[in-house]
Amino acid sequence: MKPACSYAATHAASLADPAGFWTAQAAHLHWDKKPTEPLSQDANGFYRWFKGGELNTSFLCLDWQVEQGRAHQPALIYDSPVTHTQRTYTYAELLDLTARLAGGLRALGVEMGDRVLIYMPNMPEAVVAMLACARLGAVHSVVFGGFAPHELAVRIDDARPRVIICASGGMEFDRVIPYKPLVEEALAKATFQPDHVVVCQRDFVTAEMQPGRDLDYQELLRAAPVPAVSLPATHPLYILYTSGTTGRPKGVVRDHGGHAVALFFSMKTVYDLAPGEVIFSASDIGWAVGHSYIVYGPLLRGCTSVLFEGKPVRTPDAGTFWRIVAQYRVNAMFTAPTAIRAIKKEDPEGLLAKKCDLSSLRHLFLAGERCDPATYAWAGHLLGVPVVDHWWQTESGWPMLATLAGLEEMPAPRAGSAGHPVPGYDVHILDEAGQPVPAGTTGLVAVKLPLPPGCFPTLWNDDVRFREAYLSAYPGYYLSGDGGYRDDDGYTYIMGRVDDVINVAGHRLSTGEIEEILAAHPAVAECAVLGIADQLRGQVPVGLVVLKDGQTIGEEQLEKDLVANVRAQIGALACFRAALVVKRLPKTRSGKILRKTMRQLADGEDFTLPATIDDPLILDEIRADLQRRGLGLAFTAKASA
Ligand code: COA
Ligand code: AMP
Repeated sequence: MKPACSYAATHAASLADPAGFWTAQAAHLHWDKKPTEPLSQDANGFYRWFKGGELNTSFLCLDWQVEQGRAHQPALIYDSPVTHTQRTYTYAELLDLTARLAGGLRALGVEMGDRVLIYMPNMPEAVVAMLACARLGAVHSVVFGGFAPHELAVRIDDARPRVIICASGGMEFDRVIPYKPLVEEALAKATFQPDHVVVCQRDFVTAEMQPGRDLDYQELLRAAPVPAVSLPATHPLYILYTSGTTGRPKGVVRDHGGHAVALFFSMKTVYDLAPGEVIFSASDIGWAVGHSYIVYGPLLRGCTSVLFEGKPVRTPDAGTFWRIVAQYRVNAMFTAPTAIRAIKKEDPEGLLAKKCDLSSLRHLFLAGERCDPATYAWAGHLLGVPVVDHWWQTESGWPMLATLAGLEEMPAPRAGSAGHPVPGYDVHILDEAGQPVPAGTTGLVAVKLPLPPGCFPTLWNDDVRFREAYLSAYPGYYLSGDGGYRDDDGYTYIMGRVDDVINVAGHRLSTGEIEEILAAHPAVAECAVLGIADQLRGQVPVGLVVLKDGQTIGEEQLEKDLVANVRAQIGALACFRAALVVKRLPKTRSGKILRKTMRQLADGEDFTLPATIDDPLILDEIRADLQRRGLGLAFTAKASA
């Protein structure tokens, strides 16, 4: 049943009295000790939620649900077309597995505050591992399985985990990806070494074990179950690394208390889900969406969550998502627009969807990148339910802009817009000087402090970077890194990053990091990486490189080297497949590379040639190069016309 609250009144109340508003929301959860200071500031001036309170997220997700009578209700439905497995776990089963794995981890010496790195694909054992860490107050850091050993090593050195839990492998379409050799390579590169590596063996690939250090996941499950540890609300629940503008990822920290309160609230108000209802988030547990809406949000709310190991297409076909909705009577579905575009490409008429009974579905939620109006219209027409594009980031951990399905008098979604500010978020569009811009004018999207509960209180071991990257530009605001505008009716449109971050098939990457890899090649004098528009993946990176004088390497060989280097260092998920050799890069007279102008050129957008460009003719050469290779919407559109 919907709360008898209008969107406008709820949003206004959340900004008028944040402490009061969130204290009322916190009262819906079980606290071992009630917070004494709902909202406070630490010695750095950073905001903290619910100081003095004690609780445990794993307890709230499992024990508390069982106490409320959900022992036999499905908590997790694992559906894996790539391994031909379907299995349902009730709340009682998930609790038992979690409590025993926590016991096994404790026997290895894992205690409150220790870090545990999890490198596993979407499989129930990974969810259990996350919940087991939370149970002990250990801080988990899940690393997406598509990341290469170098990225894993960087995260190991930053998080310094006592234990790494990994799968023996994953399955990409019909290709097995053994994970253990990747972990070994990462450990060989890392300075820090964990005490133990716990391996979950899968029947299609067996990992070699290093005696003394490596342990079998199933062995750990033989331990006696342990109860949840009561934790301060401000204690970190997890670290999730995300791409910044350099090669060093940012360790986004989430705490127990604020996170639980925010996610519980969002399950009701944003997604309109009641206990017992079913959510299918087609994301990966390695991303924020997976943390929040495959694992924690659904369980905190007593819902059933579908954990899917596969792709929207080719596992086995473009009807997989719809089969899942029908089979499990899914009420809310969440995916990235790129997944819908992939389905649309293979099944443009939506024939596979039409074969399924989708009557349980009430909403399709999209995030990860802006949903283009064509995809929005196609999905809405096909499914006959509201399509809700909503905006959020790893940093926020839950939506900042949305059309809230669970509140009354909510303006309907509008194509191209991510909707309205979610309660708790005071979203502004600012100019470079930090002043609000009028409706219709594009600016920097910023959120007035304090951010609501659930948002990151800081970066792992890096308060200075937290302040500098997010808070320093405009005092009193969190700078999101996105650009956008608001229309006359109050709808906000997020139009893309204003920094060196790009989104490739819903995966967040740093062009700065790719540039560092290209620049390390002995033949490369300088380079620029652009995120250019792509019909399927939203954006893909393209490198433009200038050779050092006297270099004779062929363009084809250089491109092969660079593609291989990016794949080896970041991973295949970067989809870096094109590097063009150019004579020079366009720059301003002060030496700034005109990346935005080149991107606009590739995307076929109108642009004004900067007056300060040192040599305008170089852009014509780059245009010719892009055209020759058919790169960029400007040229692929022409090619297909
Ligand atoms: N482990 C190992 N490799 C992985 C991987 C993983 N977990 N995830 C991706 N890769 C590899 C792929 O195998 C592929 O390798 P290849 O270049 O050798 O073929 C490469 O990374 C690119 O992967 P991807 O972008 O996923 O391409 P795809 O063709 O396999 O699938 C889509 C295309 C659009 C179907 C897919 O990207 C998709 O489903 N995107 C949605 C993402 C999403 O939901 N994000 C959630 C954020 S909210
Ligand atoms: P991530 O931290 O990986 O979730 O990526 C966050 C980034 O994805 C944001 O900064 C945006 O650039 C982009 N993004 C996420 N959701 C949306 C959306 N609904 N509309 C536009 N961009 C989005």
